[in-house]
Amino acid sequence: MQVIALYSNKGGVGKTASAVNLAYLAAQSGYRTLLCDLDPQSSATFYFRVKPKLKKQARGLTNPGKAIDASIKGTDYENLDLLPADFSHRNLDLTFNDAKNSKDRLRRVLRPLRRDYDLVFLDSPPTINILAENIFRAADHLLVPLIPTTLSVRTFEQLQAFLKENRYKTRMLHSFLSMVDRRKKLQREAEIEIRNRFDNVLTASIPYLSLVEQMGIMREPVPVYAPRSTAARGYVALWAEVRAIIDGDR
Ligand SMILES: Nc1ncnc2c1ncn2[C@@H]1O[C@H](COP(=O)(O)OP(=O)(O)OP(=O)(O)O)[C@@H](O)[C@H]1O
Ligand SMILES: [Mg+2]
Repeated sequence: MQVIALYSNKGGVGKTASAVNLAYLAAQSGYRTLLCDLDPQSSATFYFRVKPKLKKQARGLTNPGKAIDASIKGTDYENLDLLPADFSHRNLDLTFNDAKNSKDRLRRVLRPLRRDYDLVFLDSPPTINILAENIFRAADHLLVPLIPTTLSVRTFEQLQAFLKENRYKTRMLHSFLSMVDRRKKLQREAEIEIRNRFDNVLTASIPYLSLVEQMGIMREPVPVYAPRSTAARGYVALWAEVRAIIDGDR
């Protein structure tokens, strides 16, 4: 089982949209896939038409003694399950802070699932606190969406510095360009700067298209309602690169 976290300390960069589409494409490729919605905003849960509320006894992430599999729900798609966000996840930071081995909590909670899934995607809220450290320890790979702007460069440098200082393996870090609008000169320039400056930027990029925003109305992954669109092709190309990375690890 490999764990891939869609992570950024910046909000609104396309983490959830990518997590949903990549998880769907992985499942389509035959990987037994679980998407964990760690964000109390519960957008990923909404996109898969799953109710965010977990039964009291099933709060796998916040309730230390409880088995996580009681919280997992099926989706409309073969090979794809979801651990829905629960409003109690707003307290994940506090829960993890109070727990023993507070930075390892998420990794430990996910461990019993290793026989059931080939791939786990984590959809993270935009944070760099104890939950983020749990994510860094639980994940084999971090996938960071970068909107091509100067500010993204700065935030990504801060993240790299943090990971280095705290001795996380730098080879776990990958980024890709997200919400790219090539009609904008500034974005074209920023894209070049990002590709020159960082050596972990994947080739595939996700264009800025209202078709992706429509996921909120369609409540389906993009390749389901617009399989031949540029947006779907972007996610397919991204999945191909991610797949090559995880297959290379086996
Ligand atoms: N490629 C895209 N083109 C156009 N709109 C997009 C694209 N990707 C995401 N969006 C839209 O932008 C908004 C933010 O995207 P998303 O929720 O995926 O970001 P996020 O990083 O998960 O945000 P948060 O930090 O709040 O969790 C959403 O309304 C989404 O529909
Ligand atoms: Mg999100």
